[in-house]
Amino acid sequence: MKLHAFILALGLAAALSAPMALAQQPIVIKFSHVVAPNTPKGKAADYFKQLAEERTRGAVKVEVYPNSQLYKDHEEMEALNVGAVQMLAPSLAKFGPLGVRAFELFDLPYIFPNKETLYRVMDGEIGTRLFSMLEPRGILGLAYWDNGFKQMSANKPLRSVADFKNLKMRVQSSKVLEAQMKALGARPQVMAFSDVYSKLRQGVVDGTENPMSNLYTQKMHEVQKHLTLSDHGYLGYAVIVNKHFWDGLPADIRVTLNKAMADATQYERDIAQKENEESLAAVRRAGTTQIHVLPYKDRILWHQALLPVHKEFEDKIGRDLIQAVYKVAAQVEKEKVGAAKTPAPKDKPGPSPSR
Ligand code: SIN
Repeated sequence: MKLHAFILALGLAAALSAPMALAQQPIVIKFSHVVAPNTPKGKAADYFKQLAEERTRGAVKVEVYPNSQLYKDHEEMEALNVGAVQMLAPSLAKFGPLGVRAFELFDLPYIFPNKETLYRVMDGEIGTRLFSMLEPRGILGLAYWDNGFKQMSANKPLRSVADFKNLKMRVQSSKVLEAQMKALGARPQVMAFSDVYSKLRQGVVDGTENPMSNLYTQKMHEVQKHLTLSDHGYLGYAVIVNKHFWDGLPADIRVTLNKAMADATQYERDIAQKENEESLAAVRRAGTTQIHVLPYKDRILWHQALLPVHKEFEDKIGRDLIQAVYKVAAQVEKEKVGAAKTPAPKDKPGPSPSR
């Protein structure tokens, strides 16, 4: 009798501990991206991992796979779709092949005169509208991450528009970026990010464009003799998840992860500019690449050559979206002018400076 009770108790204990053991299995989020860990995106992915794991007390485990270790550009979206990974942060230029061409808005040359305009676009109605276009494809947009303005590089100086003639320039998978290179007289070559360094080294392509942090961490400066600080376009990211996976998370976990993502986003935006400045300084120190600053008169000519790309893509991106960005830029400009005109508060009266 006693033995029977003991076996029953054992059975009960086993039955009770089984769900606990199951509950202790962490929820795994595989977060794949294509850049180096020491870039704004790489650092923020690691920071998100830290926050998510700490704040869920280990109920969530985030596995970050940088540098295209798991998937290259064109493979990542499919991996997200089939649930092989749960989180990605592709550049905004990489949504076109999914059929969401409106994201190419971010690729239009010179569309963002400054970061204030960019953040208002990302965090406002336009950013929300773009994310809503992903949902029918089973994708949920969680955040927009920053990188920075792009610089042009090649093995010859790129000062005037004529310098681009017939150069094979690597671009991301965006029709706008192809059109941009064509407008400069170059021949665009679409290629995965992970292949750029080797193709530059082999001379398969002559040049490329990227923010400094990507250029430096991929060692592109070792195979590019010239760099023009042109700031002609923008590169940023959308952090996305598989919607089915995200919606299936326990509600409290989802709330915690959303907050961790918001904090990681703030961190990412705070470090992006500094990372790019440090990368530029590192490229200067390396001494392999001559750095050209685009004088104002040439900048105007680049503008003139590239602005027609906006018109060319009105139908594909949406005229209303493009106009909405112009409106935000004008508002930011107006506020800046207003702020510059507002007199600074008077200093406290004090003794006149001695002569
Ligand atoms: C990235 O920053 O994610 C890659 C950008 C590129 O493909 O040039």
